[in-house]
Amino acid sequence: MTFSDDMSRLLVVLHGASLNLLGERPAAHYGTLRLAELEEGITGVARAHGWKCVCHQTNHEGEFIDLVQRYRHAGALLVNPGAWTHYSYAIRDALEVVRGPIAEVHLSDITKREAWRAHSVIADVVQIRISGRGPAGPEDAVKALLELAGG
Ligand code: DQA
Repeated sequence: MTFSDDMSRLLVVLHGASLNLLGERPAAHYGTLRLAELEEGITGVARAHGWKCVCHQTNHEGEFIDLVQRYRHAGALLVNPGAWTHYSYAIRDALEVVRGPIAEVHLSDITKREAWRAHSVIADVVQIRISGRGPAGPEDAVKALLELAGG
């Protein structure tokens, strides 16, 4: 079994800056769920479809890029890069190399907040974009990703 085969039914979930503080961040935008609870929901959906799931969160842009590179052969990737979404060309370029489908997920509706949030520099390298569905968003994204990845 090759290294990439080994990751073929692995869903990787990457959360970026300040998403570790879900539950303390403004509830009007992000709800009250903590990151661990959100990740439990995502993992549950993946497992129900026979997939493995690993979740990481980091406040460091370089570490986020290292994680994208480490898991570039995974079956599917779900990312919420937080504020990096709006300006990190370095993360966008890292995502470009990922083999499987990628979902970009935001808990809040980034199109209905400050003007600078409406733009995503990663939009052109992802296959699925979900924004403003709260905690249902990541779970919807997993279902769409696994369908794209072939069940
Ligand atoms: C976010 C939206 C971003 O604009 C913000 O910087 C975040 C979270 C969301 O999930 O709604 O940190 O990605």
